[in-house]
Amino acid sequence: MSLKIAPAKGKLGILTPGMGAVSTTFMAGVEAVKKGFGEPVGSLTQLGTIRLGKRTDNRTPRIQDFVPLASLNQLVFGGWDIYEDNAYESADNAKVLQPALLEKVKPSLRKIKPMKAVFDKRYVKRIDGPNVKTKGSLAEKAEALMEDMATFKKTNGCDRLVVIWCGSTEVHHKPAKVHQTLQAFEKGLAKNDPDIAPSQVYAYAALKAGVPFANGAPNLTHDIPALLGLARDNNVPVCGKDFKTGQTYMKTLLAPGLKARMLGCSGWFSTNILGNRDGEVLEDPGSFKTKEETKLSVLDQILQPNLYPQLYKDLYHSVKINYYPPRGDEKEGWDNIDIFGWLGYPMQIKIDFLCRDSILAAPIVLDLVLFLDLAQRAGMKGIQEWLSFYFKAPMTAPGLYPEHDIFIQLMKLKNTLRWMRGEDLITHLGLEYYD
Ligand SMILES: NC(=O)c1ccc[n+]([C@@H]2O[C@H](COP(=O)([O-])OP(=O)(O)OC[C@H]3O[C@@H](n4cnc5c(N)ncnc54)[C@H](O)[C@@H]3O)[C@@H](O)[C@H]2O)c1
Repeated sequence: MSLKIAPAKGKLGILTPGMGAVSTTFMAGVEAVKKGFGEPVGSLTQLGTIRLGKRTDNRTPRIQDFVPLASLNQLVFGGWDIYEDNAYESADNAKVLQPALLEKVKPSLRKIKPMKAVFDKRYVKRIDGPNVKTKGSLAEKAEALMEDMATFKKTNGCDRLVVIWCGSTEVHHKPAKVHQTLQAFEKGLAKNDPDIAPSQVYAYAALKAGVPFANGAPNLTHDIPALLGLARDNNVPVCGKDFKTGQTYMKTLLAPGLKARMLGCSGWFSTNILGNRDGEVLEDPGSFKTKEETKLSVLDQILQPNLYPQLYKDLYHSVKINYYPPRGDEKEGWDNIDIFGWLGYPMQIKIDFLCRDSILAAPIVLDLVLFLDLAQRAGMKGIQEWLSFYFKAPMTAPGLYPEHDIFIQLMKLKNTLRWMRGEDLITHLGLEYYD
């Protein structure tokens, strides 16, 4: 039995709160791919395939031919930011993509002008800008965001929307009373409760309007009972948090490998230099704490020291991010990993990853919006755990630990697609080949 999936007809509007490096590299990239100026490298939805049936069946369609995804030509972009720069100016400022390439997509990018943001300097301390909604309570600002979405949808003739948070990392923020029920949250919006962060106002507005929402940053945002309940009640799929790029991506590749071979690990020291606006925001200890939590949790979850105390009980894990302007978006991440083998003999692994953060993040944004839109058309609601593959801190049902191993995550993603289309799940048992 396959799921009934509505066709991907008409235009799909992608709205990003935050039109900085990641958002504009994504938008410019899609425009460049559409015009044949580059390949969508790093995107599973554009380049990935999926094996169906037995290994001897030779059925390996492209993912985009197997499930009905919106095509790049159907995408329209918009967003909100505290700065007034259009997507071309912002991409130029972020200096991720080369000027010659940006020039080629300038006409499309110039048209994408940021709508006025819902902003609160208490949540992002290092930046400030003029393009903000100043009038009314948080409840009225949420209404204004819903109006922005409705106007965007109408003006651009969109059939559906998806919202994905590409805004700065907000300060560390624990769930409070106001986050527990929708009623408390709505009351809080009306009386400007200081425990409601701007990202939560966007998430609320999207969910209220029935629009799927993803969170690319580590902020608490919609990972609270009030908003998860709203997502389920309104039949809206959601996912998060914090795009898995760079150093954490490397960790989720290596750590499962060490554990698979029952090799021990006594220390993992990670440090980064980064010079973009994200790096500047993360200089603030409050924003860094939010990031640090998601970065630190990964190893613990993968290595399971409670199950393997001889191997991982004493692991010392440290993560640092240093703001270093000369590097811009071209981050450098170092890892020193102290491992041990047979009889406890020590060894070391060193990684020096000269990566480009937004180049790694852009295809993740693309895949997430296409898969969330698919999920909504397939009638799936609430947390989409099968999209954990893309996140450093995957959201899960309460009480369930997140799965961080990228290969298990990929299997889960592909099995979910097989399940949607009524194909056999692949267990890799394979005994039938030897019967
Ligand atoms: N690049 C990566 O590899 C990566 C990986 C994981 C997570 N992230 C997260 O993605 C987010 C975006 O990263 P980036 O490199 O594009 O950062 P950026 O600083 O270039 O862009 C963020 C933008 O968000 C805007 N903003 C802040 N608060 C806002 C609000 N309330 N409403 C609207 N706009 C707001 C800022 O003005 C800025 O233009 C960050 O939170 C970052 O931590 C990035």
